[in-house]
Amino acid sequence: MTRIALYPGSFDPTTLGHLDLIRRATRFADRLVVAVATNPNKAPMFTAAERLDLLRRSVGPSPGVEFGVLTGLLAHHAKEIGATILIRGLRGSGDFEYEAQMALMNRRLNPDLETVFLAPDSGLTFVSASLVREVARFGGEVSSLVPPVVAEALKARFAR
Ligand code: PNS
Repeated sequence: MTRIALYPGSFDPTTLGHLDLIRRATRFADRLVVAVATNPNKAPMFTAAERLDLLRRSVGPSPGVEFGVLTGLLAHHAKEIGATILIRGLRGSGDFEYEAQMALMNRRLNPDLETVFLAPDSGLTFVSASLVREVARFGGEVSSLVPPVVAEALKARFAR
């Protein structure tokens, strides 16, 4: 049996926290599909194509890891690609309400999809893409929180 896991997110932009979760998920998934998705409650800083490009370049060649853009419902996409595991990161109790609600809604939409929450490395629990964007916007140093390609992209974005 091939275990296919889907790891969706805004990835706006990719952080070291995302890379940590990707590494952890590859330990138990035979195939991991990392999907840049649309969160209807957020206005992204980078376009979906830019987010995908930064994500791909941040991860680099990694056997068993694939990338894509997800435009519709996550639960339906999982069924289409045969994914039975949905990966989400849980940094702390602040994430829990929203994540638990999504997990139950996704289960209702696709009962074959099991959400698996992964805790990031303890040194990365404070890292969020939204805080990274905010710090970078005001000229703060984010190079220890994001992959080098993302740090460059943020610098270029705010140098304008
Ligand atoms: O990184 P984020 O912004 O927390 O990711 C949230 C995301 C993109 C995974 C969520 O908004 C999502 O699943 N979007 C796709 C549309 C969908 O299926 N919505 C219903 C979720 S229960």
